[in-house]
Amino acid sequence: MPNKYSVLFVCLGNICRSPLAEGIFRELVRQRGLEKEFCIASCGTGSWHEGEPAHRESRRVATQNGIDLSGHSARQLCAADFTRFSWHVAMDCQNKRDIMHAAAGRPVLLHCLREFDAEAESLDVPDPFYGGRDGFEEVYRIIERSCHGLLDHILQDDR
Ligand code: 4NP
Repeated sequence: MPNKYSVLFVCLGNICRSPLAEGIFRELVRQRGLEKEFCIASCGTGSWHEGEPAHRESRRVATQNGIDLSGHSARQLCAADFTRFSWHVAMDCQNKRDIMHAAAGRPVLLHCLREFDAEAESLDVPDPFYGGRDGFEEVYRIIERSCHGLLDHILQDDR
C-alpha cells in the first residue's frame, strides 16, 4: 500500500534545516500514530554536501529534544521528487524559487514551511549555517512550531 501522504522538506544544503524539519515532522507523525500514512524525506537544492551527515549543531539540538538524526545522508533535489512527493515544503523563499525552477513546468504543491508558523514575522527559516549555536536553537523552535501547523493543515486538506 502506498503512503497516503508524502512530504519532502527542502533547504539549500540538506544538512542544517531540512534534516531537522524531517526529524521533527516524523516525530509529530509518530506521536499521532500515523507513521504508516506518511512518507517523509528531505533534500537540498544544492549538491555541495551530498552524502554528508546532518550538521553537528542540528544533530545536537535534535538529540536534546529526543530526535535522532544519525541516519541522515544529504542529497540533492532530483526530477523523481516531483512524482514521488505530493507536498514540497521549502525552508525559505529562495528555496521555493529554486524548487519552482527545478520543477520546470511539472505541477508541484509547494509551500514555505513558515506559512504554518502562527508566530512568523518572515516566511524564511533563517539559515543557521554561518551562525552559532543560538541560531540552531532558534531554528529548532521555528521548525517545531511550523511542523505542528503543517501537520494539521495536511490532515485537514486530506488530499
Ligand atoms: P541548510 O544550510 O540549507 O539549512 O542545510 C546550509 C548548508 C550549507 C550551506 C548553506 C546553508 N553552504 O553554503 O554550503
